[in-house]
Amino acid sequence: MPKKLAPLVLLLPLVAFEALAATVSPSSLSLIPGQAATVAVTSIQGTLQLTNSNNQVASATLSGAKIKVTAKTAGSTTLSVKDRKGTKTVKVTVKPAMTVSPQSLSLAVGATATLTVSNPSGTLSLRNSDAGKVAATLKGNVVTVKGKAAGNATLTIRDSKSSRSVPVQVTGGGGGGAVVIGNTAGRLLASNCFQCHGTYGSGGFEKLLGETESEILEELREYQADPDFTTDIMAAHLQGYTDAQLQAIAKYLANP
Ligand code: HEC
Repeated sequence: MPKKLAPLVLLLPLVAFEALAATVSPSSLSLIPGQAATVAVTSIQGTLQLTNSNNQVASATLSGAKIKVTAKTAGSTTLSVKDRKGTKTVKVTVKPAMTVSPQSLSLAVGATATLTVSNPSGTLSLRNSDAGKVAATLKGNVVTVKGKAAGNATLTIRDSKSSRSVPVQVTGGGGGGAVVIGNTAGRLLASNCFQCHGTYGSGGFEKLLGETESEILEELREYQADPDFTTDIMAAHLQGYTDAQLQAIAKYLANP
């Protein structure tokens, strides 16, 4: 190539670049519902025009040389930015936000339960507000929780876009290590009876397991009304309970 042409060859790519349409950055977005992001538009030639292929999925507004995008619901939409020289597109993907199930936990000391994380984005991390009350470990999308001491702790699970907090209540031992879901007043009242009738009424002085709710309730009402309540153990024990409490106890013991 003749020496004189060299500067001209160097100039060509610069000229070609100048003639291109506006550029967008970033050219793709991955968001969760409610999340907002900004796309910068540079090298604009003339007036900008913005179109959004699906404004149910995300809203997009043009402000100067910026596009403000707010994700609305899971799906995808394409934003097109047009200037005098051409069109550039921004692909917006909205994924459902991470969820953790169940949203709260109540378990006995020594009992184990699990939390399952759905739709995580990126790497998950776990924070435990009180490692003295619960032990929690994260493996894959599952958090294994173990009750260590009675009290409360909060587990916070975070992915790259959001976080979820799960309150954990650890109840005192004696529940046989069972996970307690939907604790009832009857259970608390009936735990008193286990000292003499075994756990869940399994034995002791008299086995209660296997009796029906109405059988147990009838006996409890008889004991409570017994005029010998100063000498009979059961009659003495039942003084002071309301009839509603007796019903709750009978209901629980018939189906512990
Ligand atoms: C201090 C020990 C003690 C406690 C606590 C106790 N019981 Fe009893 N229970 C007994 C004894 C002893 C008998 C059998 C003798 C009698 O009738 O007093 C009995 C008998 C019964 C019977 C009759 C069983 C049958 O099939 O004939 C029922 C029902 C019963 N208890 C329910 C309860 C419930 C419910 C509680 C808790 C609210 C409770 N007991 C707490 C000692 C206890």
